[in-house]
Amino acid sequence: MFDFPIFEMPTIGLRMLMAINAIIHVFVSHGGAVGGSVVLALAAWWANKRNDMASYETVYRLLMVFFIITTSAGALTGIGMWIHANIISPNAIGGLIRVFFWKWFIEWIVFNFEVVLLLFWFMTWKQKALTPEGRSKSIKFGVFYAASSWVTMLIITAILGFMLTPNFDGQPWVDPEVYPGNVNYNNALFNPTWFPGLAFRTFGAIAFASALAIMWTWLITTFSKDEAIRNTREGLIKLFAKIMMVTVPLSAALGYYYLLQIPEAARAMIPTAMMTRAFADKMDLMYMIISGIGGAVVVTTIIAYFSPKRMPYIAATLMVSAFLLFWGYEERTREFIRKPFLIYNYMYANGIRVTDVPYLNKVGILKHAVFVDEEKKVIKEDKSNLVEVGHTIAQIECRACHTENGINGLKALTAGWSEAAIRNRINNLPGGGTPYMAPFVGTEAEKDALAAYIASLNKKGEIK
Ligand code: HEC
Repeated sequence: MFDFPIFEMPTIGLRMLMAINAIIHVFVSHGGAVGGSVVLALAAWWANKRNDMASYETVYRLLMVFFIITTSAGALTGIGMWIHANIISPNAIGGLIRVFFWKWFIEWIVFNFEVVLLLFWFMTWKQKALTPEGRSKSIKFGVFYAASSWVTMLIITAILGFMLTPNFDGQPWVDPEVYPGNVNYNNALFNPTWFPGLAFRTFGAIAFASALAIMWTWLITTFSKDEAIRNTREGLIKLFAKIMMVTVPLSAALGYYYLLQIPEAARAMIPTAMMTRAFADKMDLMYMIISGIGGAVVVTTIIAYFSPKRMPYIAATLMVSAFLLFWGYEERTREFIRKPFLIYNYMYANGIRVTDVPYLNKVGILKHAVFVDEEKKVIKEDKSNLVEVGHTIAQIECRACHTENGINGLKALTAGWSEAAIRNRINNLPGGGTPYMAPFVGTEAEKDALAAYIASLNKKGEIK
């Protein structure tokens, strides 16, 4: 059960570590790969059809930028996701692999195709650009590249959807008594948020990629020494703005539809997810943030469409920044509202399965902490190692969301609390207005040890 070594991330915590990697990955995979492939293939086709070789060349330069970013930052954070997920939540990865074993494998194969097609498209572009037949072949590479990036998203969004809406109620994908025995894999795959999430992300990614393409077109055409390249700005920016005119409203509508499929309890957590607990009741502030981001996208799209030649750089960067903020918020919110679960109603954020709770409450969690020294998991008769044992419990149960003394640090959260108050709080988890916290799992003795450890955080170094 806790048969993996314990990895801790001091100060920034596990959640922030994952968030930094995940958000960079979403920027690149959505804007660079999934959306970028569609937008650039479309732009290459458009330029070729009009026999506009200067624009065709500008698209090549755009592809170079996208190519460098996707194959470096995109690939690195893609692998980083895996490594982080493995060391942060090996239990969750274990649960997900059981259900998505072959689908994940297929995703990897398709991803290989995706990268090879991108390489081919980029490396052979120059040579194929010389003849019309070559160009139409080259554009085909682009189209296949776009299709394979989309298929990887198709599979990954099934897994993301499954974590939020695993179809547990009503149509159980797993019999909790005999897991991993009686699994209905189709229920897991065709979970209620798969298609809405996929549709929303597809059009959102294309819109985001168009915004990035506008910003880079601005830069490339402004700083080119070649007059012909400089003159391609108007046509290309207008084309990208046109794509946005279609995809922005579509992704907004689909995003709303996606929102409606999310479980009620999770949806109720959106204000806390967006603005932290301290501001959760400031709904007007939340709407202001949403309309600010949405408004910035709409206004800059209109500027790009009606005035592509004179579009100021500040508008192009504002457009991209609004998208970055949007994806950042979207990912944070989606991750937060699933709390306290990693897989809804099935596994808590700390890797404890809901069905194991009664058993663990009886025998305790430390019994199963395979990688922990005896010293740190068996309370001595004189209780001299109580704080150390408590520390181990916090590492197992609380470290998914708390640090000792950094982001969401237990030290600061319990400053001024007596040990009895802490003990009482642990007893009442997750009550008291914190539905996103997992319940305490374990024995009464383990509760005592955890309380002693948390209380010790504010005692250390204090002169009394
Ligand atoms: C799923 C994530 C998650 C897990 C697991 C979790 N917490 Fe929390 N906890 C939170 C969040 C989020 C807050 C809110 C922080 C804030 O208000 O700024 C919080 C707040 C707290 C607070 C202070 C506020 C309050 O309402 O009491 C305490 C104490 C606390 N947690 C203790 C624990 C302990 C002990 C554990 C391990 C047994 C634990 N938490 C596990 C997410 C979690």
